[in-house]
Amino acid sequence: MNHPFIDIRHLTAYRGGRRVLDDFSFRQERGAHTALLGPNGSGKTTLMKLVSGELYGLDRPGSSVRVFGRERWDVHELRRRLGILSHDLQREYLPGVSGRDVVLSGAFASIDLWRHHEVREADRSRAGELMEELGVTSLADRRFSQMSTGEQRRCLLARALFANPDALLFDEPTSGLDLRAAFAYLWTLGDIMRQGRTVLLVTHHVHEIPPEIKRVVLLKEGRIMADGPREDVLTAPLLSDLFETPLQLAERDGWHQVFPAR
Ligand SMILES: Nc1ncnc2c1ncn2[C@@H]1O[C@H](COP(=O)(O)OP(=O)(O)O)[C@@H](O)[C@H]1O
Ligand SMILES: [Mg+2]
Repeated sequence: MNHPFIDIRHLTAYRGGRRVLDDFSFRQERGAHTALLGPNGSGKTTLMKLVSGELYGLDRPGSSVRVFGRERWDVHELRRRLGILSHDLQREYLPGVSGRDVVLSGAFASIDLWRHHEVREADRSRAGELMEELGVTSLADRRFSQMSTGEQRRCLLARALFANPDALLFDEPTSGLDLRAAFAYLWTLGDIMRQGRTVLLVTHHVHEIPPEIKRVVLLKEGRIMADGPREDVLTAPLLSDLFETPLQLAERDGWHQVFPAR
C-alpha cells in the first residue's frame, strides 16, 4: 500500500503546559520533499518529535498522527524506516565514540554500541560503504568529541542512512556549519532525495532549503500560514509576515536568500 509518509489530523500538542500545536493537520506524500519554515518557537521541532514518536499529542476523537500509514509504532521499528537528524542527537552523542561506531550504531537505532549489540561482518562493510559515500572514512577512528560540527553531522547522516530508511527528517541541517560544510551537506541532501528517499526539512533559514524541495509550508505559532509550491510560498510579503519583519527575497539557480527591506 502506498500510504502517505506523514498524515497528521486535527492534532493538539502541549509542551511544558503551553499549547504548541492547535488543531494541526499536515500531510506529506512519499517523494514529495517538503520544507517547513517558521520562526523560533513556532513548533517545528515539536512537529518532528511527534512524527518520530518522541512526543505525543492529545488523544482526542478525530485526531491522529500516522506515519507510513500507521498510528502505533514500535519506536525501534520506526527508526529503521525513518532517519532523524536533530541537534538533540548531536548534543547527546557520547564524546568518546569513534566515527565508525557512530555509523555502526545505526544498525541498532541506538546511541552508541553496547556489549549486547552483536556487530556482523555485513554491518561493518555497510558502515564502510556509507563512510566512503559521505566522505568520512578518515574519521573512522576519531572520537566524536574531536570532530568538527560538520564532521559530526556527516557521521550522524551516515548513521541515519544505515538501515536504508524510506524517509529522513532534518532539523535545521546546516546550523553551526561554515559555508563549505553547509553546502557540501546540502548537496548530499540533494543526493539523498534523488535516491528516492522522502525528506522533510524544518528550518528558520530560507537559504538552507535545497532546490530539490518544491513544496514549502510556513508555520507560525503552531498554525500553517501558507502551503504550496515553493515559488508561490517563498515571496517577500509572505516571509515578511511570517517573520514579522520587512524582508526582500532573491532567487538564484533554484536557491533562495532573504535580505532586510525598509
Ligand atoms: N521541553 C520543553 N518544555 C517546555 N516547553 C517547550 C519545550 N520545548 C519546546 N517548548 C516550547 O514549545 C514551543 C515550540 O518549540 P519548538 O517546537 O522547539 O519550536 P521551533 O523548533 O520552531 O523553534 C516554544 O514556545 C518552546 O518554548
Ligand atoms: Mg527547533
